[in-house]
Amino acid sequence: MSITTEDEKVGMQQASDAVAITLRKMREYAKPGISTKELDDYGGELLAQMGANSAPKLTYGFPGYTCICVNEEAAHGMPSVDKILQEGDLVNIDVSAELNGYWADNGGSFVLGEDIHGHGKLVQASKDILKKAIDNIKGGVRISEIGRLIETEAKKAGYTVIKNLTGHGVGRSLHEEPHEIANYCDKYNTTRFRKNSVVAIETFISTKSTIAEKQADGWTLCGNKGGFVAQHEHTILVTGGQPVIFTAQNGIWD
Ligand code: CO
Ligand code: CO
Repeated sequence: MSITTEDEKVGMQQASDAVAITLRKMREYAKPGISTKELDDYGGELLAQMGANSAPKLTYGFPGYTCICVNEEAAHGMPSVDKILQEGDLVNIDVSAELNGYWADNGGSFVLGEDIHGHGKLVQASKDILKKAIDNIKGGVRISEIGRLIETEAKKAGYTVIKNLTGHGVGRSLHEEPHEIANYCDKYNTTRFRKNSVVAIETFISTKSTIAEKQADGWTLCGNKGGFVAQHEHTILVTGGQPVIFTAQNGIWD
């Protein structure tokens, strides 16, 4: 969406606060021994307390309030009573929701407890790349240039990017124009970021894979060549200078 009034800005901020606080509290709640279903139910309660509705549930009939990926899962991980979190797991939580007609989206990967499997470097690279990408977004910048930056930074750190998962416009629905803010330079995409528009910027940084493929459960995506994927996402307002980070309260950069 494009923000034209103060009311719209306040509405976007409130929806963003709901998803950001939910993401932060879920990350704090995650511990070895609990299932991803328990973690998701907790997230669902938090959203409900704030009057927000799960976006993947509303939009796609997703079987959970939030998407939770563990280890080799790259995106759209389906919460399950059978998935028990363990020390050192690479966990990704993505929370998107609607509140009073405004939609916001955010996510982040982290290592659960002690980093016994050495996922920390991948997580840090993804955080740093998201920061650098957002720092370079303002009205008039080509979307493909931000994709180039993300892929270049990933390569420098020794990683690949997932090409079929992208950031997107957000605000009046979960996914809107521009539909594809890719993690690589798509030379056919001549679209530019527009001042006052709301977009969700997200990294998909991998140790090996370039494509995310749907698994047998019909939801979960995993990398085509295996390995691990880290994602970090903020909903932002594009301005003529530094973007406003609507989901700053999620603390994914802390
Ligand atoms: Co998103
Ligand atoms: Co998301």
